[in-house]
Amino acid sequence: MDWGNLSFGYTKTNYNVRCQYKDNAWGSVEMTDSEYINLHMASTVLHYGQEIFEGMKAFMGKDGRIRLFRWEENAKRFRHSASGLLMPEVPDELFREAIFKVVLANKEFVPPYGSHASLYIRPLMIGTGPELGVKPALEYLFLVFVSPVGPYFKEGFKPVNMMICRKYDRAAPHGTGTYKTGGNYAAGLRAVEEAHKAGYANVIFLDAKEKKYIDECGPANFFAIKDNTYITPESPSILDSITNKSLINLAGKLGLKIERRKVPVEELSTFEEAGACGTAAVISPIHKIADPETGKEYIIGDGNAGSVSSNLYHYLTSIQVGDEPDPFGWVTIVE
Ligand code: PLP
Ligand code: COI
Repeated sequence: MDWGNLSFGYTKTNYNVRCQYKDNAWGSVEMTDSEYINLHMASTVLHYGQEIFEGMKAFMGKDGRIRLFRWEENAKRFRHSASGLLMPEVPDELFREAIFKVVLANKEFVPPYGSHASLYIRPLMIGTGPELGVKPALEYLFLVFVSPVGPYFKEGFKPVNMMICRKYDRAAPHGTGTYKTGGNYAAGLRAVEEAHKAGYANVIFLDAKEKKYIDECGPANFFAIKDNTYITPESPSILDSITNKSLINLAGKLGLKIERRKVPVEELSTFEEAGACGTAAVISPIHKIADPETGKEYIIGDGNAGSVSSNLYHYLTSIQVGDEPDPFGWVTIVE
């Protein structure tokens, strides 16, 4: 494996783990080497999108120990998504058992310390029970697979350019935006494709109601820095990013003020730094943001990662691999 040059993609590993929900109860966690699922053609996931997922990472430390970052937060968000799509909640203990089992069974795929790569963990749940009417299934499959990955944005920790999308919405204010469900990503595919075709790394979605405020950046939250302040959008239609929440804590420790509020598009011209943040993206600094439908273009910084974003990036990634003390108790050793 060329650990240093991994991109964010699927690599086959040895095992995945699965657990079935039937007769109102979860079964036991089974391990398999099959990459396939035998699915009823009338499963609710296939017709009505009853699907939720998570994304988290395991890191190899200098000491040869594998570290998970804030898995309890992913378990909690998975429960939130489940409740939003009328699916059974996975208890934290079951979530923990599944992710520990799958990581330990695929130890050889955890990228080495210093490679800047990690083992991406993808828990998902689908409605497997057959239905024809629009209603929640009676049976579900909870599955976790892993894949070694590099940075989501091929540039890594280098500034990218983004495109504002006014044509398509990802999620409505009282829609499914706060749930990590496949439908939100399907809704965003056209926007991301158009941004890619126009040469941008990804898309910035605006609030669907007024088209005035920044929502989020494709598969990541948005943040910006100005006047020693960390600013990030508050919105009812975005995913509550665990990376963003962590950066808020770290920014506080670095002496920055924090503002979680609506961020008008025009404010982009005032920012000293901006970035996209998420598990897959980590931090991706943003240099240029184009708004093709208004013809405006916002340039942020000089084309290099800004100093606050760099400090936050190094602080976060050092805690994740165990190089820095973990003052918030975010890291769990997998053994
Ligand atoms: N926003 C969206 C739409 C995402 O898919 C993700 C990825 O999980 C994020 C934000 C970042 O969230 P987190 O930091 O919890 O990975
Ligand atoms: C993550 O950051 O974990 C995500 O789920 C983003 C994903 C859509 C690639």
